[in-house]
Amino acid sequence: MLADTYPFYLANQPESPNADLEVTDKYTGKVATRVAMASAEDIDRAIAAAERAAEAMRKMPPYERQVVLYHCVERFRERFEELAVSLCIEAGKPIKDARGEVTRLIDTFRIAAEECVRIDGDIPNLEISARAKGYRGFVQRVPIGPCSFISPFNFPLNLAAHKVAPALAVGCPFVLKPASRTPIGALLIGEILAETDLPAGAFSILPCHRDGADLFTTDERLKFLSFTGSPNVGWELKSRAGKKPVVLELGGNAACIVDADADVEDAVARLVIGAFYQSGQSCIGVQRIMIHASIYDQVKEKLVAATKQLVAGDPKDENTFIGPMISEGEAKRLDGWIKAAIEAGGKLLCGGGRDGAMLEATLLEDVPQDQDLCAEEAFGPVAVLSRFDDYSAALRQVNNSRFGLQAGIFTRDWYKIQQAWDELEVGGVVIGDVPSWRVDNMPYGGVKDSGLGREGIRYAMADMTEERLLVIRTKQA
Ligand code: SIN
Repeated sequence: MLADTYPFYLANQPESPNADLEVTDKYTGKVATRVAMASAEDIDRAIAAAERAAEAMRKMPPYERQVVLYHCVERFRERFEELAVSLCIEAGKPIKDARGEVTRLIDTFRIAAEECVRIDGDIPNLEISARAKGYRGFVQRVPIGPCSFISPFNFPLNLAAHKVAPALAVGCPFVLKPASRTPIGALLIGEILAETDLPAGAFSILPCHRDGADLFTTDERLKFLSFTGSPNVGWELKSRAGKKPVVLELGGNAACIVDADADVEDAVARLVIGAFYQSGQSCIGVQRIMIHASIYDQVKEKLVAATKQLVAGDPKDENTFIGPMISEGEAKRLDGWIKAAIEAGGKLLCGGGRDGAMLEATLLEDVPQDQDLCAEEAFGPVAVLSRFDDYSAALRQVNNSRFGLQAGIFTRDWYKIQQAWDELEVGGVVIGDVPSWRVDNMPYGGVKDSGLGREGIRYAMADMTEERLLVIRTKQA
């Protein structure tokens, strides 16, 4: 279903100066297609074009930007299965998860289309003291200018969409660097955007190696940087981004508390999905499961039984739940963490086997907290169980992490919900479900090493605009 080669998009136009980037089928390991790679010179041309497009983008009325966004929605619907299969091949994402991502891509663009005609201003009251008598203030939001986007491998369509769609909604041109292991999703978005009447230079989508991609971070013509990816890379980019504001959506080691009053069957069903969907390769995948001592054995037994039922194999197969990790290297890294945790006293409850990039769905208990499996971001199909007696101590345990993206809690006690909402150092608390739950209009992002700022269309649109004040003095009689 993939084409033999794909161009990149520079100033809205496809260009194929080469086909240097091999994109593999992550399950078979074979080359699935080839993609044109942008050079530093191409990136420079794209930024210059974005700078030239800024005025035309700013002047494009919201209803015209809305037409562009709805065009994308319609075309994504028409090309739904092709988009899903491309994710399945390039990311090794099980086909059901891939279809879920395309559904979310459509949501993301649809929300942006709706929001783009609701960019309202403000009328602050300036008459706060005698010296301000007769002064009135008005605030409008103006696009920040050319934006720089870097998107990750784990949601090649939807996490690119979380940057592209709000930029189009507010009228910012952009340059996007998709992950070089999974560039196809973003290029298909580019193919569809190229069908629209966006001003020349409005968008460029440029697969390239990280080494040649410095301009995405350092170039002063770019007025905003939004990065989704690993914490180390994200914070390093921020340190080199100069004056531009930066939004970072980074990693996590998400925790989920299962309290004594939880509906065990329901919690187990959700935990299995939260820990193992797309082989745990989500920043909000469940990694640490804290279970009240009174139900620990019961939850453990059911979790292990449900995990053993998960079908692993070819992501193209409709029954597959566990596909490959993004690379054999990543699977080996996590395999090493599991072995180290067992050597340190952790007990393997199920899984633990590896064949190339395929790592089994794995559960452990009694893992010391300082092990990588607890303290770092696993980003794979592994979760660690622990027990607690005291709810407040469990909350402290959630906070005992350098990350803070989302946390989940299974409880029906309103006072405990409030306590968690007040005390957890995270960007979002999800009650009655796993931390992995996300819908695309909600504010999404983390604290501590998990990042800076929020995505979710309205929040990203706010970041991509600046408030501009108008003051009017009326001469007093
Ligand atoms: C992420 O991995 O940060 C994104 C998770 C999601 O969008 O569901």
